[in-house]
Amino acid sequence: MSKHTKKMPDHIAIIMDGNGRWANKRFLPRVAGHKEGLNAVERTVQTASAIGIKVLTLYAFSTENWSRPSDEVHFLMKLPIDFFNRFVPQLIEQNVRVVTIGTIEDLPQATQNSVNRAVELTKECTGMTLCFALNYGAQDDLLRAFQTIQSKELSEPITKETIAAHLSTHVLAPFQAPDLLIRTSGEIRLSNFLLWESAYSELYFIEKAWPDFTGDDLKQAINHYMHRERRYGGLFKGGK
Ligand code: IPE
Ligand code: IPE
Ligand code: MG
Repeated sequence: MSKHTKKMPDHIAIIMDGNGRWANKRFLPRVAGHKEGLNAVERTVQTASAIGIKVLTLYAFSTENWSRPSDEVHFLMKLPIDFFNRFVPQLIEQNVRVVTIGTIEDLPQATQNSVNRAVELTKECTGMTLCFALNYGAQDDLLRAFQTIQSKELSEPITKETIAAHLSTHVLAPFQAPDLLIRTSGEIRLSNFLLWESAYSELYFIEKAWPDFTGDDLKQAINHYMHRERRYGGLFKGGK
């Protein structure tokens, strides 16, 4: 048997980075990069769902992104509304189910309404799960999980499964952990994304900024993944 994994990733997570630099390079305001980034989201969702990816998680807004100038934050809060207004019919046609991770309750009401509507309208879809990380931070998510566990005063000892079950990514089970984690724009860090879940993810970094990311870039990342050897601390046994 080949030493390398031949299995497609079930769950791909993407840190969609580089929108601002993409725009600056073109002498455009940063928000033009965010706007263009929506087209990359459309391409990526389309490709991922067509090739049978089970879960695609997209990091759209972090708990730290509130520290940006208020007009940029305001624009970013409107983006999900634009996105879902434009793409919900396509998502339904592609049988894509939308879910979210992160603290949605702290988003502006109009953003929450739009997100909740997309979740509701696609809840019967049985194809790919498209998970938006919105107001998401892994430390925040872990903290909330621990606080909930503490408040339950469980009689059983806490296990790894207890923790995983209290993370917001639990909605993605049985594919809670990303097999492949991609970051665009050349930064080589996780920026508070899926810290627990990415313990054994294969990481892939690409120089291109997010608005330039294409379906072929996604396929190339998957191809790299399929040539990786996943060992989980043990010795290679084949499979994924
Ligand atoms: C990613 O692009 C989108 C968000 C974080 C919301 P950036 O806005 O971080 O773009 P750069 O990294 O400044 O180029
Ligand atoms: C990570 O990108 C967050 C998202 C892509 C939503 P950032 O641009 O916020 O991360 P840093 O600041 O470069 O670490
Ligand atoms: Mg960035």
